Amino acid sequence: MLRRHLVQALSLSALTLGLPLAHADDSTFKIGLILPMTGQAASTGKQIEAAAKLYIAQHGDTVAGKKVELIVKDDTGLPDVTKRIAQELVVNDKVDVLAGFGLTPLALAAAPIATQSKTPMVVMAAATSSITEASPFIVRSGFTLPQVSVAMGDWAPKNGIKSVVTLVSDYGPGNDAEKYFSERFELNGGKVIDKLRVPLRNPDFAPFLQKVRDEKPDALFVFVPSGNGAAVMKQFLERGMDKAGIKMIATGDVTDDDQLNDMGDGAIGVVTSHHYSAAHPSAVNKKFVADFEAANKGMRPNFMAVGGYDGMRVIYEAAKNAKGQGGGPALLAGMKGQIFESPRGQVLIDAQTREVVQDVYLRKVEKKDGQLYNVEFDVIKSVKDPAKVKQQ
Ligand code: PHB
Repeated sequence: MLRRHLVQALSLSALTLGLPLAHADDSTFKIGLILPMTGQAASTGKQIEAAAKLYIAQHGDTVAGKKVELIVKDDTGLPDVTKRIAQELVVNDKVDVLAGFGLTPLALAAAPIATQSKTPMVVMAAATSSITEASPFIVRSGFTLPQVSVAMGDWAPKNGIKSVVTLVSDYGPGNDAEKYFSERFELNGGKVIDKLRVPLRNPDFAPFLQKVRDEKPDALFVFVPSGNGAAVMKQFLERGMDKAGIKMIATGDVTDDDQLNDMGDGAIGVVTSHHYSAAHPSAVNKKFVADFEAANKGMRPNFMAVGGYDGMRVIYEAAKNAKGQGGGPALLAGMKGQIFESPRGQVLIDAQTREVVQDVYLRKVEKKDGQLYNVEFDVIKSVKDPAKVKQQ
């Protein structure tokens, strides 16, 4: 106890005084990967850890002449824990880079540590648009909710959906999804009848779905974070919402590849917009899915895994680009402007916004070879985070 307090106190004062925090000794390159390995977002932690390890297995455990050391820490999904771990990784372990961050509040809790210590922080999962504004040292390797929600606001009214109720988890990414979907949907002539928000922790969807049934929209638009989609789908089907003529539309977080097969055939036909599907028909993705499944007892990778895998790519290439120049700012510079083919398609790390510019797909749940997949049927190329396009 006492030791922990002492370490914390020293860490804090080193950070707040702006003391130079020496980085790892010259022969190692340390990546501090902070993930929720337990708690409600544990599936995100599991997917990202597996993806990071796959990247290292495929690309080797040395980069730019240094031995890579991956330090994985469980923050249990609690922001105070994320912050303490980030501090310890920076001050004690002297990591070169922080990475992971399974939920928005966790990323926001660590942001000041990245800024104060000038340590690049790769946000692989959390997807509220404003996160990259919380520190100039944050680079995103996943996506933002505005980026994927706008595509659904364009697709729905063109496909016979004129009235919608939105149902989102009541925190950053849910509020982003609600706002950007609704604005675009109404711009295209649709009507949002009601906007419902459910608590993030232990949500009970039943009373909300009852309300939606009474309101009788053409469709229900849903966002819940990865790992929670199956619960919404189950209650949607149990209440016979589909039979009452209410369609479900959503971001791909809901028909998550990690859970899709457990949702059953009732999920068939659900249309979502997202940046990654395990069924993306490229050679790069087929290899990624096959290697990931082989290394993880058949577990199918989801969009969180891809955020983690690509985040590792961004880190490795940045280390090479920095050409042995030590320190956070050189590593950060090496992350900006990277262009590469990800399992999701072509991506760019926008040097100005530090966001991923990527293709967004419309997908429909279909059964192929006895398994459920999000099958892509349309694409919007090179989508920037719309929240930042407005500001530029
Ligand atoms: C987030 O907390 O930012 C978050 C988590 C899971 C998702 C999307 C966003 O699927």
